[in-house]
Amino acid sequence: MSPLLSTTDLRVAFPVGGGLFSKPKLVRAVDGISLDVHAGETLAVVGESGCGKTTLGRTLAMLQRPTSGSITFDDARLDQLGPRDLRAARRSMQMIFQDPYASLNPRQRIAAIVAEPLLIAGVGAASVNIRVAELLDLVGLGAEAGARLPRAFSGGQRQRIGIARALAASPKLIICDEPLSALDVSIQAQIVNLLVRLQRQFGLTYVFISHDLAVVRQMASRVAVMYLGVIVELADVDALFARPRHPYTTALLSAVPTLAVRNQPAAKPLLVAGDPPSPLNRPAGCRFHPRCWLRKQLDNPSRCTSEEPKLVGPDTQRVACHFSEEAAMQPRTGANEPAAAGLS
Ligand SMILES: Nc1ncnc2c1ncn2[C@@H]1O[C@H](COP(=O)(O)OP(=O)(O)O)[C@@H](O)[C@H]1O
Ligand SMILES: [Mg+2]
Repeated sequence: MSPLLSTTDLRVAFPVGGGLFSKPKLVRAVDGISLDVHAGETLAVVGESGCGKTTLGRTLAMLQRPTSGSITFDDARLDQLGPRDLRAARRSMQMIFQDPYASLNPRQRIAAIVAEPLLIAGVGAASVNIRVAELLDLVGLGAEAGARLPRAFSGGQRQRIGIARALAASPKLIICDEPLSALDVSIQAQIVNLLVRLQRQFGLTYVFISHDLAVVRQMASRVAVMYLGVIVELADVDALFARPRHPYTTALLSAVPTLAVRNQPAAKPLLVAGDPPSPLNRPAGCRFHPRCWLRKQLDNPSRCTSEEPKLVGPDTQRVACHFSEEAAMQPRTGANEPAAAGLS
């Protein structure tokens, strides 16, 4: 079966700066991503703040045009569609945003917010009202919520409104960009449960951008680990958590105490030194090499600085590291580096 969504060598570069006498520089936010998303699965995207997750998500949803590369959704080449066809195709793919405060118009009543995608799709007024009531029920708010304004609702409730709006046009794919990170921990679990229930009920496919690896482990079928605009590891969730093969993934996992590997002494987190480098100025060779704990333990790591590793391996676990065998062998105990890899 062909994947629901597929990209090849997707790139998004933003020109920044530049003036009368200088050319703008390029921020290569997404720098060559090829991936497939299969119908019914949840593909998680993880990685530090600034690595390009939001840009990738917005580009998959075609809210952002790619600079180059292809996006195929439901057998249509989105990057080649004109505005009208694109609008139609985009109904089948919706986005849920991080900030449920910023993403709802404060002056619009909830019913109007949820109805918007239906009206755009040309659904008649009478059916719209019925459908909006149905959707508000579905997300656990109740139809009477429709008459109120966003300010009457808490963060979790607003995220439910965002989910109702995303569901309105019966999409196949929902791209969730850190949908939990603005919510209280106690509310997060409820939203996770809602998303899981809706996925089962409607056979939805999710691209789930998150920095919460515990939630990712619970929800995802596969995980893409991003670093500076590329995917460095793409694996089935069980394989990734049992035996991460990229030194960056290993470091991310070891920073989460609750994910400590069984049968291993409570390991010190494997730390990653320094801030992620800027996408304006990416390191030669492997982009992770300046911060890589493994490279420092190798006898001859010259390939790390001279050759960019490709994402290779079986479909169950592909990894972009010249020394992925060595990485997988390492016990997850800490090299003594000054700063931990923060995920946000
Ligand atoms: N519209 C834009 N113009 C210029 N740079 C941008 C724009 N959007 C994102 N970026 C840059 O692209 C990189 C990736 O950003 P983003 O996709 O938001 O990452 P993440 O969601 O992983 O935090 C960052 O360096 C960010 O500053
Ligand atoms: Mg983001």
